[in-house]
Amino acid sequence: MPAVATSRSQRLQFLKPTAVNSILAEVRQAQERGVKPVSLMRGEPDLKTPAHIVEACVEALRNGRTGYPDNRGEMALRLAVAAKLHRDNSLTFDAGTEILVTPGATFGIYAILTTLLNEGDAVMLPDPVYDAYQSPVRLAGGEVRPVSSRIVEGRFELTVEALEKAWTPAAKALLLNTPWNPVGTVMTREELRGIAGFCERRNLVLISDEIYEAITYDGARHVSPLAAEPALRERFVLVNALSKTYSMPGWRVGYCAGPAALIQSMFLVLQQSSRGPATFAQDAAVAALAGPHVCVEEMRGEYTRRRAQVLAALDGIAGVKAMPPEGGFFAMVDVSGLGLPSNTIRQRLLNEHGVVVVHGAAYGPAAEGTLRVSFASGGEVLAGGLKRLREGLERIR
Ligand SMILES: Cc1ncc(COP(=O)(O)O)c(C=O)c1O
Repeated sequence: MPAVATSRSQRLQFLKPTAVNSILAEVRQAQERGVKPVSLMRGEPDLKTPAHIVEACVEALRNGRTGYPDNRGEMALRLAVAAKLHRDNSLTFDAGTEILVTPGATFGIYAILTTLLNEGDAVMLPDPVYDAYQSPVRLAGGEVRPVSSRIVEGRFELTVEALEKAWTPAAKALLLNTPWNPVGTVMTREELRGIAGFCERRNLVLISDEIYEAITYDGARHVSPLAAEPALRERFVLVNALSKTYSMPGWRVGYCAGPAALIQSMFLVLQQSSRGPATFAQDAAVAALAGPHVCVEEMRGEYTRRRAQVLAALDGIAGVKAMPPEGGFFAMVDVSGLGLPSNTIRQRLLNEHGVVVVHGAAYGPAAEGTLRVSFASGGEVLAGGLKRLREGLERIR
C-alpha cells in the first residue's frame, strides 16, 4: 500500500507545467553557467497599471473594502462588465444571472471546463494554441481533441473542414481564442460564422477566450463569436480578464458571461475553490472598465510600435520570416528554412546567444518550424533581445 503522502490522484499525471515554466527551468540552468539571458518569452505586459485604477484600489482599501466579496462578483463590477460587453462587443448579458467575476481568465476557463465535462468528454482545441488550456481539460476529466490549423500567406487559419475532420462524437466543447495566442490571428466575422455553424451542427458549447481583444493592429478589429452569430447564445460562454487590456495581470480579475444555468454551475465551482477576487481589486476593476479608455489606446499605440520594431529587426534573414500578428503581443517567426527543429533552435538561441523565446511546437505540432517572440516587454529588453535574436538566427543559418 503506498504511503498517503506519495499516492496521488490519477488525474494529476496529465498535468503539465506550461511551456514558459519549463523553459524558465532551462533559463536558470543557463544562468548558473554564467549566461545572462534576455527574455522575449513571457506574455506579461511591462506597462504599469494606469494610475486612476491604482487610485481606485487605494481608495477602496482606505474605505475598508476588505471584507469577503459577493462570491458571484460585486454587483457594481457585474454591472460594469455588462455595460462593457454592450459597449465594446454588442452583447447583452444580465448582471444578476449571466455574469460571473473570476480570479483572472485562468479561473474562468477552469470553471467552465469543470462545469461541462464528464469523464471522457472531449474539448476541441486549435493546434497550435495557448498551452495552459490542456491541463484544466484533463483535470476536469476531459480529453483534448486538437484541430490542425494551416498557414496561408503568413496567417494561421482554422477552417471548418479541419474542425469537421477533427470532430468526434465525444466532443462537448470548442475552446477558441481570438485574438489567437500564440499565432496572432484575429478571426474575421465570416470565419467566426463558419465556426459557429460547426458548433451548432455538432451540438458543441463554444468557449471564447477574448483576453487579447483590445490589442489589434492594421485595422483588424476583434469580433466576439456571439456578435458574429447571435444564434450561439445558449451554447456560448465568454471568458475575459483585465490582465492584458489594462496591464493588470497580478490583480487577478476576470469575468465570464453565458447562459444563466451554466453561470450558476460555474458559480458553484468558484464557491468551492475560491471566493472571487479581492473586494478592493474588484472596485479597481470597475474604475478600469467604466473609466477613461485613453490608457488602452496608448497601450495599443505602444504595442504597435514594438510590433514594427520586431518585424524590422528580423527582416532580411535568409530562411527566416516574421509573420505580422493581427492581434496580441507575440510574433510568430517562421524558421523552417533553417532546417532544424524549433526546439533545437530555441535551445541554441538561449545557450549560445542569450535570448529566450518559445519554440512553436510547445503550442502544438502545427506550429513546428516557428518561434514565438513576445513584445510584451519593450525598451532595452526588446532592443537587446532582438539584436541577439537576429545575430543568433544569422549564425544558426
Ligand atoms: C490566451 C490566454 N488566456 C488566458 C490567459 C491567462 O489570463 P489571466 O492572467 O487573466 O488568468 C493568458 C495569459 O497569458 C492567455 O494568453
